Amino acid sequence: MRIDIFCLFPEMFVSPFNQSIIKRAKEQELVDIVIHNIRDHTHDKHHTADDYPYGGGPGMVLKPEPIFEAIEATKQQINPGKVAIILLTPQGRLFSQQIAQELASHSHLMLICGHYEGVDERVHEHLATDEISIGDYVLSGGEPAAMVLVDAIVRLIPGVLGSQTSLNNNSHTGGLLEYPQYTRPQIYRGWPVPSVLLSGNHEEIARWRHQEAISRTAKRRPDLFFEEGKSL
Ligand code: ADE
Repeated sequence: MRIDIFCLFPEMFVSPFNQSIIKRAKEQELVDIVIHNIRDHTHDKHHTADDYPYGGGPGMVLKPEPIFEAIEATKQQINPGKVAIILLTPQGRLFSQQIAQELASHSHLMLICGHYEGVDERVHEHLATDEISIGDYVLSGGEPAAMVLVDAIVRLIPGVLGSQTSLNNNSHTGGLLEYPQYTRPQIYRGWPVPSVLLSGNHEEIARWRHQEAISRTAKRRPDLFFEEGKSL
C-alpha cells in the first residue's frame, strides 16, 4: 500500500512513523508512506498556504491551489490508478474499525490535513473523494487524525502483525470490546488471575472470554449492540 499525506507540518510525522509496527511495516515494504508539504506547492515568495475567509469571520482558510497542485503533481508522478483522496475534517464521517478495514483494502490512499478555520470548500467538493473525522472534537490540525488513520489501517495490512488471531480478537473487530487479559504473576497484590484461565481447558476459556466480552460491551458501550444492522 502507498499512503501520501499532504500537510503543513511534515515534521510532526517523523517520530510516530519511525516506531513500532509502522516502522516495521515500512522496513518490510508492506507500506510506503510519503509526506508532502503543501507549502512546497505555493508560488509566492512567502509560500502562503492560507488566506482570509470571503464574507469575513475569524481565522484563516487553507487555499485550494496548493492542495490541488500537490495532489495532481503526485498523481502524475506515480501510476495514476484508483486512489482514495481523504480529507481529515471534523465534518467527515466518523472513523471506525469498519472504515479502517475498508481503507486497508485500497492500494493507494491520499490524506489531506486541514488547518486553521478550515479548508476552501472547493477541496471538499471537487478534490476529496471521502471526508473523515476521528471524533466529535476539534483538533488544531488534521495531522494527529492522519496518524490515527495510518496506525489503524497499517496494522490491518496482511503480514504487518505477526498473528492473524491477535487481529481477530481485538476490541471492535467482532463488534465487541475485547475480553480481559492477564499475564504473570498469578497473584499480584492479592489480586488473583481468574482460575478458568489456568485450567488448560481451551473450550471453557473461549466461552468465558466470549461471555466477558459481551458483558463488558453491554456495560461500557451498550451503543455497540444497537448499531444499525447488527445483531448478536
Ligand atoms: N481536524 C480537526 N479536527 C479533526 C477531527 N476531529 N477529525 C479529523 N480531522 C480533524
